[in-house]
Amino acid sequence: MRHLIDPTDLTREEIEQIVALGEDIIAHREKYREACKGKKLATLFYEPSTRTRLSFTAAMMELGGDVLGFSNANSSSVTKGESVADTVRVISSFADIIAMRHFKEGAPLVASQYATIPVINAGDGSHAHPTQTLTDLLTIKREKGRLDHLTIGFCGDLKFGRTVHSLIKALSRYEGVNVILISPEELRLPDYMLQEMQAYSNLTFREVRTMEEVMPELDILYMTRVQKERFLDEEEFDRVKDSFVLDTEKMKVAKNDMIVLHPLPRVNEITREVDKDPRAAYFRQVENGKFVRMALILTLLKYAEKAPAEGAAPRYSEPFEINRHVCHHHSCISQTEDVDQLFRRSEDGTLRCAYCETRLK
Ligand code: NCD
Repeated sequence: MRHLIDPTDLTREEIEQIVALGEDIIAHREKYREACKGKKLATLFYEPSTRTRLSFTAAMMELGGDVLGFSNANSSSVTKGESVADTVRVISSFADIIAMRHFKEGAPLVASQYATIPVINAGDGSHAHPTQTLTDLLTIKREKGRLDHLTIGFCGDLKFGRTVHSLIKALSRYEGVNVILISPEELRLPDYMLQEMQAYSNLTFREVRTMEEVMPELDILYMTRVQKERFLDEEEFDRVKDSFVLDTEKMKVAKNDMIVLHPLPRVNEITREVDKDPRAAYFRQVENGKFVRMALILTLLKYAEKAPAEGAAPRYSEPFEINRHVCHHHSCISQTEDVDQLFRRSEDGTLRCAYCETRLK
């Protein structure tokens, strides 16, 4: 059974096939009107979302399928103390595919170990957001015509912004990608990501503290919101919340064909005037999200037909080190749910929790 928990669960070829299928759907929408007739998508959203959940819903509806689910943890059995594992075991007999968003890192991975239908990670804590990555890749492909030889600046909350983490991982497989990380000290990319980037041979990267100094170099500027809900400390949040605002003045020194992306929601990090600039691609990006989710649903359902789930749960996709170490990361699902402790050895030789990727101390 194939799932999409992390962007690297798909090979580069598979990602390109999904992006290409997304483009075909855009060109021939009527061809796909009944492609998922009789199929059901369960949207299990334990954390608030408008765009992502409605994008999944619209995607399934455009494929002629049905959607069921919940949009916050309070309206699910979590309030009765049900585990993620039990919830997805139950949902597996009601639906054909699951899209899950959760505030704990690794919850969709747990779901994939117990579900007998494909699980899509629709965002887990500050960890990963692979369907936003597919959205970003389809947008970059349509806007720039390529996914390699690009200089991309990531600006804002690189610490908690899961969309940034997932897109960097996906881009690390392409040639000539130059990443510039633009953030205040407090919101730097997490250590595990920086170490991973050092290990990627393809990718070059550097960290800077202002947008202005790199603006003229960029092919893409990826803006992000400061993730208030993930801050533990209110004062720290207040100090950084207005950092790194994109306005028309800063746009003046950018390339004529640079594009601005943002996963949305936007708060104040891009001023409204920038919306009128044709280089502002974030509303086009949202629409691409629906098409690429259609492509992903079709692809995972096809894989599931070929290879249904086998064996008793939990099923592990890799030879992890099982129950030999303990993860202490506060927002890891393994802190609250009774699951096996899983660790994998990463390229740099360190052991990392499979759920949240935090390095073993
Ligand atoms: C992002 C998310 O949920 O991680 N939004 C989205 O998926 N549309 C970014 C964010 O919440 O800031």
